[in-house]
Amino acid sequence: MIVKSARSNNIRVFFVGGIVRDNILGYKTSDIDILINGSAIEFAKKLPQEIKVKSIHPDFDTVKLLYKNEIIDIASSRTEHYPFSGCLPVVQKIGVPIEEDVKRRDFTINSIYCELYIINNKLSYKLIDLVEGIKDINSKTLRVLHDKSYIDDPTRILRGVEFAFRFNFDFSQHDKTLIENYLSSPIRTNMSVDRVLSVFSKIFKNKPHKEIFKKVILNKYYKILFDDVQNIDFNLVDNVLDLFSDEEFKTDDFYISLLKNQEFEILQYNSKKELFYNMKNMKKAVLACYYYKTQDKNVLWFVKNKDFKFLITGDDLINLGFKQGKIFSQIFEKLFDAKISNPQSFISKENEIDWVKNNFKS
Ligand code: CTP
Repeated sequence: MIVKSARSNNIRVFFVGGIVRDNILGYKTSDIDILINGSAIEFAKKLPQEIKVKSIHPDFDTVKLLYKNEIIDIASSRTEHYPFSGCLPVVQKIGVPIEEDVKRRDFTINSIYCELYIINNKLSYKLIDLVEGIKDINSKTLRVLHDKSYIDDPTRILRGVEFAFRFNFDFSQHDKTLIENYLSSPIRTNMSVDRVLSVFSKIFKNKPHKEIFKKVILNKYYKILFDDVQNIDFNLVDNVLDLFSDEEFKTDDFYISLLKNQEFEILQYNSKKELFYNMKNMKKAVLACYYYKTQDKNVLWFVKNKDFKFLITGDDLINLGFKQGKIFSQIFEKLFDAKISNPQSFISKENEIDWVKNNFKS
């Protein structure tokens, strides 16, 4: 329906980027990204009512549509430029021919267009490969379109690392030289730090995150944003990951904390309860990094007991006749110690109430 609508308005419609690359490689893609050679916002106004506009993004002239429970992103063909290395791209012109649009793209493998037509009421397509992307897919090569590409957008280095792992590709020899040259004097003055961090996050979340992190360290890709990182002990990193990995643990935050090179002092506590609640309130990734840096054994104790919970509340103490005040913290402090050292005796709330009755006078 989108293609029909576009064609009847004399607008060309394409798939481009990941969807075409993945299709050629035989992988499934979940995103449907469409490019039109015109303004996506203007085009969205002419669509039939069944297609709902979910959001409009004027900065890049892109639109999110909803059709039959499917999200469809429509982008406008455009030219972009980077006034400074690593900044966000600035849109120059909307609605340009694809021969111009292609110049803003990262790798040849992501620059293959697939034009969509309706012929005899049937959807048909034609691949348009302006940059020998298919050849690079076949030879498993990551190649940028021009020599200034990594300077314009150094996150392309990180995207490339992730693609290399995902598809078992490698940078071309020339790309390796371009990356090496960039990393020898990275330019961070006008860099969009948030954008770079979000790409680091993305690549450190994926399945082979351990290997990706190792590559980022050994090849010094971190230099895009961070100064030299102290020697990383990969065995210790593995240990920490084993210790902390659960649904709550964010691998990306942990690796980024390591790259930030933050120093920690061993934390001192007056009681096990204080230690427990302090560590519980720390972000897991920061605690993991703290452990990596200090190897404070208290962390191991905390991890073992991290599911600790009181079953009684202050209200229960009031019902037992205690007056709110210092006594509350004394009771919880002692109960904490008793429960931690003998958890099997505190299975129910009644066990805790009985313990309070036996150990404190209201
Ligand atoms: N793109 C780019 N430079 C970037 C980010 C994106 O040139 N820094 C272009 C590429 O042509 C890319 C397309 O925008 O194919 C879409 O980007 P994105 O959705 O981020 O990536 P995909 O290539 O679709 O890959 P993925 O499978 O990871 O979504």
